[in-house]
Amino acid sequence: MDRPSVAFLKAAARRPLGVATVFPTSSALARRLITPLTQSPPGRVIELGAGTGAITRHLVDAAPGQVTALEIDPELARFLRSHLGDIRVVCAPAEDMGHVVEPRTARAVVASLPWTMLSPLTQERIFAAVHKALVPGGVFATYLCLNAYLHPKARTFRARLHTWFPRVEEGAIEWRNLPPAVPWFAWSARN
Ligand SMILES: C[S@@+](CC[C@H](N)C(=O)[O-])C[C@H]1O[C@@H](n2cnc3c(N)ncnc32)[C@H](O)[C@@H]1O
Repeated sequence: MDRPSVAFLKAAARRPLGVATVFPTSSALARRLITPLTQSPPGRVIELGAGTGAITRHLVDAAPGQVTALEIDPELARFLRSHLGDIRVVCAPAEDMGHVVEPRTARAVVASLPWTMLSPLTQERIFAAVHKALVPGGVFATYLCLNAYLHPKARTFRARLHTWFPRVEEGAIEWRNLPPAVPWFAWSARN
């Protein structure tokens, strides 16, 4: 069985646009993304685009027995199942999350999707699904890589966050990630 870095490189070679990078998310960025979990209400934790589990490992530590990971690539989904215990892995596109997660059951959705590679329609479908899945006061955590920050689809992404969520925060650049990345956090209404 491949090491995570090798499995990730192979996936990037198979689907360069779908994986969008040859570097998995750094621990520094993963830790930043999961910070709001400590203050979130009860519920499941969903990951979108889990890859080889660079963020998933941190989620499992923070929320044992509560993590569902969606990954579109069947080989990566297999890799996750064989390398990570105590999680539910579903091989499905993020935009189909509504078939996997009951409405208002997720306290957090963490996504490391290649936002600038996704069509505006797919972005919109994912935002709608995340919004529907979150419990009141639940958090959506994701990031944009600095090199893609000014891309028109990154602008659409940022505008959509503000359309769907009443509270949105942009984090400071995480320079220890390759490439450096900007975390984004959005919270659903508390009711
Ligand atoms: C930038 S990589 C991040 C991988 C890993 N989570 C990490 O942080 O290192 C993007 C991941 O999202 C997956 N992906 C791309 N589009 C997707 C979609 N529409 N639904 C679910 N997963 C998707 C890719 O296969 C890849 O594993």
